[in-house]
Amino acid sequence: MTKRPIIIDCDPGQDDAIALLLAMSSPDELDILGITAVAGNVPLELTARNSCQIRDIGARDDIPVFAGCAQPMQRDLVTAEYVHGVTGIDGIDIVEPKLPLEEMHAVDFIIETLHAADDDSVTIVPIGPLTNIGTAIKRDPAILTKVREIVIMGGAMREGGNRTPSAEFNIIVDPHAADIVFRCGRPITVMGLDVTYQVLATPQRIDRIRDLDNEAARATAGMLEFYSRHDSVKFASVGAPLHDPCTIAYLLQPELFQGKQCNISIETSSELTMGHTAVDFWHTTDFPKNAMWMHAVDADGFYELLTERLSRFGDG
Ligand code: BDR
Ligand code: CA
Repeated sequence: MTKRPIIIDCDPGQDDAIALLLAMSSPDELDILGITAVAGNVPLELTARNSCQIRDIGARDDIPVFAGCAQPMQRDLVTAEYVHGVTGIDGIDIVEPKLPLEEMHAVDFIIETLHAADDDSVTIVPIGPLTNIGTAIKRDPAILTKVREIVIMGGAMREGGNRTPSAEFNIIVDPHAADIVFRCGRPITVMGLDVTYQVLATPQRIDRIRDLDNEAARATAGMLEFYSRHDSVKFASVGAPLHDPCTIAYLLQPELFQGKQCNISIETSSELTMGHTAVDFWHTTDFPKNAMWMHAVDADGFYELLTERLSRFGDG
């Protein structure tokens, strides 16, 4: 099987951490060229550190981790400790990572890696604010020919916003970067809240993962339990939505998801609706169809995949 080369751009975040573990447990399908951290759920220093700790839990010393942008392109950084805890990955013990960060800036890594790649070859998976990716495209648009697909967690249509009435967190933190990415002209697949709210981490699903009883599974269960506390209350649901791993699950088993090719435009002017993803689901405009908007998922199939992949980790 040919492995798909990917760069995961993230802001761990419990759900980012679980996306990383899902990707790290799938070496037959995914060649993780690097993990790039961005400021988002917590400041950059913590998202970069957390990425290194999750690399240790996944026992993947071979994957380099880079720190990127500490601030959005134009706006002040907004973080989400009220969801993720002060560390970003509350729910597990924080220990000093075994290996350090790379010295290169994440944006330089993205640009250099894409320049060295074949045309249409690298998949980029942004699961935090789009600052690193937007900055890389702005600085060197020639990299775009090397991009096969961009698989984003961000945005909302039917579900409305989770950070403001009309905006989802990753997009509103850096709407200007999101605007650059959505206009870039490469194939884009989007896992917004409409689909991620369907994959709830119920107590039964968390128990099944914990019962696998290896380090990665115990960490996943611990993080999910912490993270579910906030979201279950906020959304009056039986568990928290597991946003970011939807991107990796799509790369592994695209048949779990259903989507529609649409125009998606990002609001960057109105303070009231800043960061809104205007999804033209019914094609009311003739704006170019620039993205695949995912709207349905087989949630049981998603948790089967996640649980099976986590069972592949040895006891760490
Ligand atoms: C997104 O925002 C963050 O809090 C999560 O990690 C996810 O990427 C969901 O809106
Ligand atoms: Ca995230």
